[in-house]
Amino acid sequence: MGQAALGADESEQRLAALLAVMQADLAQPTTPGGRARLLESASLLPIMLREARAPAEEVRLARRLYPVLRRGDGAAARVSLARLTAAHPFHPPPAPSNPQRALRLAAAIHREACGGCHDHPSSDAFLPAQDLFRLACREAPEVFAARLYLGVKGQAEMGFRNPFSPEERAALALWYRTARPCAR
Ligand code: HEC
Repeated sequence: MGQAALGADESEQRLAALLAVMQADLAQPTTPGGRARLLESASLLPIMLREARAPAEEVRLARRLYPVLRRGDGAAARVSLARLTAAHPFHPPPAPSNPQRALRLAAAIHREACGGCHDHPSSDAFLPAQDLFRLACREAPEVFAARLYLGVKGQAEMGFRNPFSPEERAALALWYRTARPCAR
């Protein structure tokens, strides 16, 4: 999967983002696609922890998470994930220093690279692209930032790295949260 080339900071960030997203997904009712993604993430966790040089005890905890989730033991999974997320908090990029410029940048990125899939999500897909404005409204800013970090994947040739800089991700996060009014 081309992950061996990731630097230490990037391994830690990816791990932290994955944990934040898993914790959020576990807290809300899941579709079959969402459940499959949670299981896939759980099966990746031990490797990602090792890559981020986490203590062996955390790797053991993560190895037990997959069978726990398969059994549908949400309570036990929540306890394990709470411990792991506390040890590996996700740090969103700092808010844009020039919001006006950031919003223009984000709108352009979305139009060119995201809207095609995310603005008209097909509801019959197993794991559909979601409406990102709605997702941003619904979710804590740190969790949405973690989704942006993980959800925007590069190509295999770039080791599936997120192609956007921290500034660009901060701009996207701000824009998705504010470009449309959130329905209450
Ligand atoms: C070719 C279609 C396509 C394009 C282009 C695309 N996405 Fe996605 N995206 C998807 C699909 C399908 C999913 C759901 C699958 C998944 O979560 O793994 C997804 C998932 C995501 C998620 C994760 C949502 C979650 O539930 O955690 C985020 C965030 C995201 N995309 C943001 C973006 C942004 C920002 C762009 C533009 C820079 C973009 N995507 C471009 C199809 C696309």
